[in-house]
Amino acid sequence: MARINENYLKLPQNYLFTEIARRVKIFQSENPNAEIIKLGIGDVTQPLPKVCLDAMNKAVAEMGNAETFRGYGPEQGYLFLREKIAEWNYKKRGLNVSAEEIFISDGSKCDCGNIQEIFSLDSKIAVADPVYPVYLDSNIMAGRTEIIYLPCTAENNFSPAPPAEKVDLIYLCSPNNPTGTTLDKAALANWIDYAKKNDAVILYDAAYAAYISEENIPRSIYEVDGARDVAIEFRSFSKTAGFTGTRCGYVVIPENLCGTTSSGEKIPLKNLWLRRQSTKFNGTAYIIQRGAAAIYSDEGQAQIKTLIDYYMINAKIIRAGLTAAGFTVYGGINAPYIWLKTPNNLSSWNFFDELLKKYKIVGTPGAGFGSCGEGFFRLTSFGSRENTLAAMERLKN
Ligand code: MLT
Repeated sequence: MARINENYLKLPQNYLFTEIARRVKIFQSENPNAEIIKLGIGDVTQPLPKVCLDAMNKAVAEMGNAETFRGYGPEQGYLFLREKIAEWNYKKRGLNVSAEEIFISDGSKCDCGNIQEIFSLDSKIAVADPVYPVYLDSNIMAGRTEIIYLPCTAENNFSPAPPAEKVDLIYLCSPNNPTGTTLDKAALANWIDYAKKNDAVILYDAAYAAYISEENIPRSIYEVDGARDVAIEFRSFSKTAGFTGTRCGYVVIPENLCGTTSSGEKIPLKNLWLRRQSTKFNGTAYIIQRGAAAIYSDEGQAQIKTLIDYYMINAKIIRAGLTAAGFTVYGGINAPYIWLKTPNNLSSWNFFDELLKKYKIVGTPGAGFGSCGEGFFRLTSFGSRENTLAAMERLKN
């Protein structure tokens, strides 16, 4: 008899964005003429930067020639990409991260979901509430039950505080999905201090780092002293360069970062991750890695800036539109997400229904990210300018 992993039965039936898509599909089939504006899932809408397209086209041609054809790539990712990441995202900002510490993947979602596999099943984890569902769901699937929720509310500026008890793994996300808020250096230093005292590891999701506009907000956790001793960092090309459908991301695991065996021996986490990836993953396509590497030039940086500026103007339009319509809004300054309080104490899902039925706008109910998200709602600035303006016009009216 093929018994199932019953931990899956502990999850909501559908992944949050699958559930939203399901409801929208039903609504659209019942209202075929409704012009629905989708500001729900954080999926980009603007084309890839030209530098990426040119590099990918060149790589396609290389694949068609026996001299330059590539089969399996290096397990950790091509050195040409890892060296560029180390130089442009870390060394140029005065940070010590080497190409050997970088692992290329097909996106942050997989990395954030898979990383828990290298840690013991009895690890106690801490997650913010609300939180990107992947951190929590992947741990529930694995069978972990010791989960500490860190409330993020308007009162604490959506900045999770270290718990009183000891935990082993801490998921932090800044700029945050879903609240669109950020962690400053002092907050990160506090977490690093906690991790050191408790022999914990911080899993730091910086997928939205490129959206930070305020100078004093860290783009990387390694900007804070001591982070290399306790933190793994996740980054992505999805929102940085429009790669949601193209797929490329990476993990940084510092050489010196170790976990502990039951007998107390220290083992480098980097070795375990390499073992895991080389067994279960055959690498990101050469063509895609060439496309990703193309953003690391002056021209490439200018093109991704144009892309990010486009979405951040949308964020400004949404913040202004919602504020004018009387909503209380958060985020949207260093992040492509706007987090709003639902009006008249409506539940998040009731507000979702109302927004869809009356205004034909899709957003994401805060409750889908955790109980502290109840009474909140997330809109993304990744829509087209036209749709963003139209959505605000509908709300105004
Ligand atoms: C979101 O809408 O939260 C993101 O698109 C999720 C993701 O990047 O996986």
